[in-house]
This record gives sequence, C-alpha cells and structure tokens, in this order.
Amino acid sequence: MKEKIEVFEVGPRDGLQNERLILSTSDKVALIEELAAAGLNKIEAGAFVRPDRVPQMADSEQLHLELKKRSFGKDAYFLVPNLKGLERAMSAGISHIAVFTAVSESFNRKNIGMTVQESLALIRQIVDTAAQEGIRVRGYVSTVFGCPFEGRVSANKAIPVIEQLLSLELEQVSIGDTIGVASAKGVEEVIRPVLTSSDASRIAVHFHDTRGTALANALRSFELGVRTFDSSIGGLGGCPFAPGASGNLATEDLVYFFKEMDVETGVDYRALCETSLKLADRMKGRILSSRALQAYLANCQKNSVWDS
Ligand code: HMG
Ligand code: MG
Repeated sequence: MKEKIEVFEVGPRDGLQNERLILSTSDKVALIEELAAAGLNKIEAGAFVRPDRVPQMADSEQLHLELKKRSFGKDAYFLVPNLKGLERAMSAGISHIAVFTAVSESFNRKNIGMTVQESLALIRQIVDTAAQEGIRVRGYVSTVFGCPFEGRVSANKAIPVIEQLLSLELEQVSIGDTIGVASAKGVEEVIRPVLTSSDASRIAVHFHDTRGTALANALRSFELGVRTFDSSIGGLGGCPFAPGASGNLATEDLVYFFKEMDVETGVDYRALCETSLKLADRMKGRILSSRALQAYLANCQKNSVWDS
C-alpha cells in the first residue's frame, strides 16, 4: 500500500500574520476555498490574538462567519493564546482551535507575555473547557531547536515541554522550528525519543525554512515515522515576535517532494500551484519563495511531466 502523509496548511495564519499587506477577508476566503479544493483539508485560518499586536488576524471572527457559509469553514483551525482568545473563539462558534507555548522563556514572554509554565497551566484550562464544549484542540511548541533570544535549545530542554503538552487531551502536538535553525541531526534528537512514548499520529512537525533546511528536516521526520507536516502556501510565514524568522516550508515544495517519492498527499499539485499564483496576484505581485512554484511557473506552458 502507498505511504500517506497529511499536510497541515498554515499559510492563511502563519503566512499572512507576517505580511505587511493585510489581505482582505474576501481574499482570505477565496484563498482558503481554493486550498480546500486543491485537497488540503486541514487549514489554519486565523488567530484570536490581540488585534493591535497582530492586525493581519484581526478579522478572524468575520473570516469564520464567511467560511461557515461555505462547506469548508466548520473545520478551519484558529489560534487561541489565552482565555480571552477562547472566549472569542467560542462566541464565534469555532470547532477547531490551536494553542501554543514555547521551550524558551524569552521567546514565550515576547510572544504571549507569560512564562512557559504559566502558559502550560493556561493551556490545561483551555483544553478542559474546550473538551466540555466539544472543541478539538491542537498544540504547538515553538523554539524547539533554537530561540532568537537565547540561541541553541537542547533536546533535553525541549522534550519535557513537548511531553507536558502530549500529556493533555490535544489531538496533535506540532513541534516547531520557529526560526528555521534545525538540522536533521537535531530533529532526530527530539523526534526519536518523543515517538517512543507517543503515537506518530499525535505528532506534527512545523519547520520554518530560513536556512533552506526545512525539506531535509521533513524527510528525516518522515523516516522516523512522522506523518503530519505543517507547511505554508508559497513559503510565506514567520512569527512577528521572532526576529530573523522567515517563511515556513512551502506547501508546494513539500507536496512536490512527496509526490515524487510516491507518497500520497491528497493534494492536487497543479491546483495547488494555481492557487499560489492567484495568491501572488492578490498580494499585488508578491514573489513567493517556493522553489517548486518557481519551476512550475517557468514550465507551466510546456506541460512538463514534473509540474502536473
Ligand atoms: P496581554 O496584553 O498580555 O493580555 O496579551 P492581558 O490579559 O494583559 O490583557 C491586556 C488587554 O488585551 C486587555 O484589554 C484584554 O482584553 C486584551 P483592555 O482591557 O486593556 O482593553 N486581550 C485580548 N484581546 C483580544 N484577543 C485576546 C486578548 N487577550 C487579551 N486573545 C496575548 C496576551 C497573548 C493576547 C498577546 O500577547 C498577543 O496577542 N500575542 C500575539 C501572539 C501571536 O499571535 N504570535 C504569533 C503566533 S505564534 C507563532 O507564530 C508560532 C507558531 O507558528 C509555531 C512556530 O513557528 O514555532 C504557532
Ligand atoms: Mg510558525
């Protein structure tokens, strides 16, 4: 039987949160609909964070309202940083949320104004309330491999934070290389022990591609047994509170790579690339960093065997 992976698309959230241009709600809806039509059924759409801190996500209520009218909207994920965020998500009728913390104290404080233990305690409360409300919760751990303020992060420091999240009723924990510093060796040092005590279906990896290592790290994770990969359309992304971070692993690069490895992604590659080109237009000609997309663009007139 063919191997299969799940692609978790974070572009509408991680991608757009880091762009100067704020995409209109209707453009976000069109993007999300096109991503879903290309076969991406796990999509993070927005965030209930402070609108003055991340204005790109300020329309999350409105976005969800619009998405709900479409077939896809009910399954979109939204980030929730605290109880106020949960309250907003619940009032909007959101059914899938994502909570987040970090390994390094300095980044966590800059990002959400709490210590790591404070945020874990808060996440426990959010998870309990969400469970009572039938809301599904995903978790992120940031700065697993490195912190923009504290430098290298060791596996010994990262693993206990990941394990604490895994001990909660979270459907999945996504292991984040927030500033794109990880190597395949570092990935192995974290993922291998985590997979000895957790089912692979509960682990995802979230690689930023700042130094061009994201795909190599994704491959190492796959070899170790991980089957869920976060990625962002066009390679957009980055956290506004993590200086030096650039975009996520591009969804086009991930899907191209696994398609050529004969691994099922569920994503129509051509439809995905066409979605990226429309997004670039909506972003006023923004050049998207995905290498696979650039090749698609160069070859699309020629019907190349690789780009269909
Ligand atoms: P705070 O200022 O510490 O919160 O913000 P507070 O409880 O002290 O409240 C202060 C004011 O903010 C109050 O309003 C609250 O109501 C309001 P006032 O009474 O002064 O008028 N407030 C809120 N308003 C709207 N929504 C809320 C909310 N909470 C409080 N949820 C907070 C704490 C976490 C909200 C803030 O620091 C924040 O919004 N941070 C932004 C974090 C963020 O979006 N980061 C990027 C996403 S994470 C990421 O990218 C990493 C990831 O991709 C994985 C990886 O790559 O590693 C996931
Ligand atoms: Mg990220």
